[in-house]
Amino acid sequence: MTLRDLVNAKSVIVCVGSGGVGKTTVAAAIALWAAVGGRRVLCLTIDPARRLAQSLGLTEMRGEEQEISRSFFDAAGLDPKGSLHAAMLDPKRTFDALIEKYASSEEARDRILGSKLYHHVSAVLAGTQEYMAMEKLYAVRGSQEFDLVVLDTPPTSNALDFLDAPQRMVSAIDSPAVRWFMNAYRGIGPGGAFGVVSRGASFILRGLSRFTGAGFLEDMSRFVTDLSGLFGGFRERAVQVYESMRAPDVAFAIVTSPDPMAINEAIYFSDRLAEGQMARDAFIVNRVRPRRPAPRVSAPADIAERIGESMRLVADPVTFGRHLVQNFTDYRVLGDIDQREIKRLKERCGAGPTYAEVPAFDEDVHDLRALTRVNAHLFA
Ligand SMILES: Nc1ncnc2c1ncn2[C@@H]1O[C@H](COP(=O)(O)OP(=O)(O)OP(=O)(O)O)[C@@H](O)[C@H]1O
Ligand SMILES: [Mg+2]
Repeated sequence: MTLRDLVNAKSVIVCVGSGGVGKTTVAAAIALWAAVGGRRVLCLTIDPARRLAQSLGLTEMRGEEQEISRSFFDAAGLDPKGSLHAAMLDPKRTFDALIEKYASSEEARDRILGSKLYHHVSAVLAGTQEYMAMEKLYAVRGSQEFDLVVLDTPPTSNALDFLDAPQRMVSAIDSPAVRWFMNAYRGIGPGGAFGVVSRGASFILRGLSRFTGAGFLEDMSRFVTDLSGLFGGFRERAVQVYESMRAPDVAFAIVTSPDPMAINEAIYFSDRLAEGQMARDAFIVNRVRPRRPAPRVSAPADIAERIGESMRLVADPVTFGRHLVQNFTDYRVLGDIDQREIKRLKERCGAGPTYAEVPAFDEDVHDLRALTRVNAHLFA
């Protein structure tokens, strides 16, 4: 299957890969291509470079889906047959939405969202940014509004963090520390009287209340109790979210650079997807340095002669020619190294997935025009 077929056939494309390889760029490019081709596309992006965000009109609102206006396409000389929406993922807001959904009552919801403690807890849990990306995807998937959702994923030093996110979420909720707090605080009665708590716990809590005041512990108690009402829902949800990543209409595009370390990571990630029975449909090798043919002239003196006129500006044309040859040879070697790495990736991961290469451009990819250039290679 070519990348074209893939993007036309699937309803979710998840761009994964290690930090800085071009996930956000590739996700935006794929989304743009599909929208131009006629699909109704939502691109869920995470922390796009400022200029890319601007060029998508994504400077103000976070979290909300926004349609990319016609004028942006016009400016880039594009005439999309479909539509393109984009949203910047906001883990904190996604987390708030989860609380709203699973809180046992409106009062509990307001208490949780209004609690100072919530801000700490949400910062920690929303730190599982990867999970929130999946969660958001899960939430928008049911929508009839879009034919295709392209999901960008957070910068992780280790791409696996993404796949493990639901498990980590569940573990955080189920951790012994959280359970200890829940059990301990459940025993706190009005006015801070410790009821049925273990002696050890009540000893610690009493000690704590001397520092914090009983009011704080009461707040904490109520907060933890409210939150505990959510955990069952959360756990189930995390399992569903993880399962949904295995659906046949979900494709994973593994984005990588040709750097040997990145290729290793891509291979490792691909293995993990296979283990989890998830698709690994495409490898996109980004920022490939071009292959260069052997020079027809390589003797410095010949080069000096060829360049002729302009050489008169150079004090020592032959030395200059030698530097040119050296420089060109270095570039060729870099291009060859990239090809060797791509070959290694293909040999290791087989003919099943589709492979695409995007060259390293001289400039960052920051607007629709530049994304179109990327697409000329992705969908060649
Ligand atoms: N083929 C390319 N040629 C030149 N510049 C590129 C290319 N692809 C991406 N870039 C630039 O590299 C930078 C990093 O790309 P991008 O933000 O897409 O990476 P990322 O994988 O999303 O990073 P992170 O893991 O931090 O989210 C951006 O400034 C982007 O414009
Ligand atoms: Mg990114």
